Amino acid sequence: MMRIFNALALLISLGITSLHANAAPERVGDFNLIDQEGSAHQLSKYAYQKAVVFISLANSCSLNQKDFTEYKILKTKLEPLGVSVVMLNASSKDDVNSVRRLHDTFNIELPVLLDDTQLVAESLKISKAGEIVVIDPKRMFVLYRGPLDTPPRGGGRVPGTTYIVDAVQAAQSDTRNVDTVVVDFEAPADCQLEFPARQLHAQNVPDYETEVAPILIERCTGCHIDGGIGPFAMNSHQMIQGWSPMIREVLLTKRMPPAQVDPSIRHFNNARNMPDEEVQTLVHWIDAGAPRE
Ligand code: HEC
Repeated sequence: MMRIFNALALLISLGITSLHANAAPERVGDFNLIDQEGSAHQLSKYAYQKAVVFISLANSCSLNQKDFTEYKILKTKLEPLGVSVVMLNASSKDDVNSVRRLHDTFNIELPVLLDDTQLVAESLKISKAGEIVVIDPKRMFVLYRGPLDTPPRGGGRVPGTTYIVDAVQAAQSDTRNVDTVVVDFEAPADCQLEFPARQLHAQNVPDYETEVAPILIERCTGCHIDGGIGPFAMNSHQMIQGWSPMIREVLLTKRMPPAQVDPSIRHFNNARNMPDEEVQTLVHWIDAGAPRE
C-alpha cells in the first residue's frame, strides 16, 4: 500500500493523471501474431521468459518516433533479465508494407507484431501508441499498462519512475499478490488509436443468423459437421455458444481454420486465411455472450 501512496504523490508531481491498482491482476488469453517479417509470436510460447514487454506502435505516432532510442535501451537492459521486448502495431491505418518501411527508416530492431484485427490490443486494453504493456507469460497476467519510465529530472529533485522494472520484478517473484498497475498518461493526437470494428459491433452486436452463421458455414463447417474431421459439429446455436470460449481462443491463436499463414509472405498456396472483418465479427459476437438474437 505504502508504495502506491508514494507513487501517487510522485505522479501528481509529474503531472500524470492517475494510477489504479486492482485487487487481482487482469488476465489475458493466449494469442498469436505475425511480425513484419512473417515470424509468428505466440504469447504462451514466451513462457520460458520472465516477462514480455509490448510497446504499442503506430506509424504516425510522434511519441514513438521520439522514443525509438529509449525502446532499444529498454531491450538492452531487460533482455539479460529474461525479458522479451516487442512492438505491437494495432493501428487501423497501417499495413505490413508501411510498417516494414518504418522499421527500416528508424532501424527499429525490435519485431513489430501486426495486430490487423486489433483484437489483441483490445484484449490488452491498449488505447494509444506509446503505451507499454508488461505481461507475465506463464501466468498470463497483465502486470503493467502505462507510459515508458522516466529518468530522474531536475538534478535528482524529481525522481524517476520504475514501473516497468517493478513489473518485471513482480513477474519474477512467486508471490500471489501480484497486481495490474495502470498509469494513465497523455499522448499526442497522432498516437490515439481508433477501433472502428469494436465501435460498430458495440452499437450493433453481430447477428447470429445473418452475420455469424454464414462465416462459420463458409470457414468451419467443412470439417465441423456431423461425421466431419473436426471434433465437434457446429450444428446448432447451443453447440456453438457452448464452444465459443474455445472458438475465441483458436481464432486468436490462429489455430483455426487450420494452415493459416501471412498472405503477404505466401508460404503455402492453400492458406485458409480469414478476412479481418470476419474474425472481428466472430470474436465480438462471442464477447457479447454469443447471443442467439
Ligand atoms: C480443414 C478442417 C477444419 C476447418 C476448416 C476448421 N477446423 Fe476446427 N478443427 C479441426 C480439427 C481436425 C480439429 C481437432 C484437432 C485440432 O485441435 O487441431 C479442430 C479443432 C477445433 C476446435 C477445438 C480446439 C481444441 O483445442 O479442442 C475448435 C474450437 C475449432 N476447431 C474451431 C474452428 C473454427 C471456429 C473454424 C472456422 C473458423 C474451424 N475450426 C475450421 C478441423 C478444422
